[in-house]
Amino acid sequence: MKLILLGPPGAGKGTQAEIWKEKLGIPHISTGDMLRQVLQEDSLLSRKVKPFVEKGELVPDEIILEIIENRLSSADTKIGFILDGFPRTLKQAQGLEDLLKGMNKQIDLVLYFATSIEKIIERLRGRLVCSQCGMNYHLKNMPPKKEGVCDKCGGRLSQREDDREETVRKRIEVYLQQTAELIEFYRAKGILHTIDANKDAQEVYKELVLLFGKKGFNLKSNDFHKIGERTESHA
Ligand code: AP5
Repeated sequence: MKLILLGPPGAGKGTQAEIWKEKLGIPHISTGDMLRQVLQEDSLLSRKVKPFVEKGELVPDEIILEIIENRLSSADTKIGFILDGFPRTLKQAQGLEDLLKGMNKQIDLVLYFATSIEKIIERLRGRLVCSQCGMNYHLKNMPPKKEGVCDKCGGRLSQREDDREETVRKRIEVYLQQTAELIEFYRAKGILHTIDANKDAQEVYKELVLLFGKKGFNLKSNDFHKIGERTESHA
């Protein structure tokens, strides 16, 4: 199964991808996470991408396409993958098509997470991320069991640098100007499915259970996932 999660910042793409990667048994590929990993290094690439990520602008297409080409050549993507935050421009979408054509593959489904601006701001303002394992929380909607501590690994929780209000506003502007046109691009191909991502995360998850069931997707586990209840606990 080859999926793309498309939508504005804070739509809940990463939250759902983390659940569905286990249930579908395919990797979650987030260009945002990969770039944040690069930013931990002292390298030429890190120095190149840093100013873009810090300002909430898009990293140049050539850099992103190279990162994706390398990642999709890994053996674990053979049966499928969940792309989160990529593609984000028409050039990236066309680059992905060319790349997949060369591998005799194609995208099966694009999930568009439709979300209001008010929800985006409220979610990103309250988002907390584990510095160790990357698990996402929200101060109000999905709080950790113990304040400031990751339920899963005990790591420290903090706000993402680019979740500061002025950077969030820039990211929304960039999304509307450069990414939103991909909705029509994929709708025209007949592979777009719109999700009402204003609903809470458990409702979005339920909608996906129904959708994937209808499409006959092969699930690795049929257990119903209760968002907020994590399998490993450190509390
Ligand atoms: P990236 O990391 O991709 O950020 P993003 O797309 O802006 O997405 P987010 O991670 O902010 O949101 P999300 O939809 O995953 O929401 P989440 O599940 O976390 O990109 C960061 C930067 O990297 C970019 O600005 C750019 O500079 C660069 N970059 C990345 N990819 C690039 C590319 N392809 N090309 C060029 N540059 C690129 O949820 C948010 C919060 O809400 C959490 O606290 C969560 O707990 C909560 N929540 C989630 N779902 C719900 C729900 N349904 N109801 C209530 N709360 C919810």
